[in-house]
Amino acid sequence: MRKQIVAGNWKMNLDAAQSQALIDNLQSKTFNDDVHVAIATPYVHLAAAVSQTAHSAIDVAAQNMHQAVSGAYTGEVSASMLKSIGVTTVILGHSERRAYFHETDALLAEKVNAALENDMQIIFCFGEELEDRKAGNHFDLVTSQLTNALFHLDVTSWNNIVLAYEPVWAIGTGETASPEQAQEMHAHIRTVLAGQYDDALAQRISILYGGSVKPSNANEIFAQQDVDGGLIGGASLNADDFTAIVNAF
Ligand code: 13P
Repeated sequence: MRKQIVAGNWKMNLDAAQSQALIDNLQSKTFNDDVHVAIATPYVHLAAAVSQTAHSAIDVAAQNMHQAVSGAYTGEVSASMLKSIGVTTVILGHSERRAYFHETDALLAEKVNAALENDMQIIFCFGEELEDRKAGNHFDLVTSQLTNALFHLDVTSWNNIVLAYEPVWAIGTGETASPEQAQEMHAHIRTVLAGQYDDALAQRISILYGGSVKPSNANEIFAQQDVDGGLIGGASLNADDFTAIVNAF
């Protein structure tokens, strides 16, 4: 059975006290044991979050990292720095990084390589814009995002990859892909993976859905055959909502 994962992407929200309070609140909850739970806090809270969650099953992830080993990259953070504070998972390729920070597929391939060189787990995000979907290009667009950033990897490297399909038009808009739209794209992704690698790899990779997942819609999205969990933005900032989503499996 594929790993079921619910990860909260806090984005640029919460100060230190609020971060600590939310984690305290999450640690008082009972999560479905079958679901792997992660939270991606802003960089400045990562070290505190790692120590706060040391005795719980909540994994702490970074929202981004730089591709270089070290050097004159003011304001940036490397994979080995994250590892040195106990962060072993990183989100790469989020649509906000692509849109606002001009991250291209080629750059993301470099970031993926840097994360793998440090044996980090990667939650790799991709997804189409509304225009792509309206033009009927969404399947091709997603195929090219995966091809350009990930298909240079060997089979073993995929042990460290979780995919997160996030249609840009559904992020923070309140508009969710229908369960059928999510399932259709996730099935497409598995077909593409099977074509590039093999069926065994396609069947073992967890594929998360992200975009306006809430307690009210998580259950029907997670019930889809090829949906293995969610990457949650807004609703991950509320402990009750996030817990309800984790327990929607
Ligand atoms: P929302 O859940 O706020 O739509 O955000 C989704 C997202 O971008 C998670 O990475």
